[in-house]
Amino acid sequence: MNNVKPDLGYSEAVIDHFQNPRNVGKIEHPEGIGRIINPVCGDVTELYLRIKGGTIEGATFQSLGCAVTIASASVFTEKIKGCELSTLISGQDEEVVRRLVGLIESDLGELPAQKLHCPPATVQAFLEAVEQHSQKEGNMELAARIKALVPLVSNYYKRGTKRDGE
Ligand code: FES
Repeated sequence: MNNVKPDLGYSEAVIDHFQNPRNVGKIEHPEGIGRIINPVCGDVTELYLRIKGGTIEGATFQSLGCAVTIASASVFTEKIKGCELSTLISGQDEEVVRRLVGLIESDLGELPAQKLHCPPATVQAFLEAVEQHSQKEGNMELAARIKALVPLVSNYYKRGTKRDGE
């Protein structure tokens, strides 16, 4: 078993979710799949959703990514299970993206600056999965709304990529 010690700038929560990730794997015939290649580092995250009657009944992931990416997807899939989709995406666009990123970061604690680009990939994968679901349902209005949120995620990838003072 991996014995990573919490002296790498990671919280206990990051290490816990990295070493014991929840909800790993695929969902058979999911309502939506999002597949993201992190634009900063190239790590891959896939997120699968089971959505019934507007409720997220299941969420799983697979990731070829770093400890923070795995921990992010683990926390996020735990938190959105049982949630109403409409509640997760209610509000102004910026507010929605901030809330979704916050679902992860509120649990993982302070991250090293060079790892701040990791959590947004899970959020983007989620949005892509919801967009796919919306299209399958023929709800093009929702699909368009979700599509408009994706560019806002890109701001979160940029965090920590500049040196102090830039
Ligand atoms: Fe690539 Fe974390 S997502 S380093």
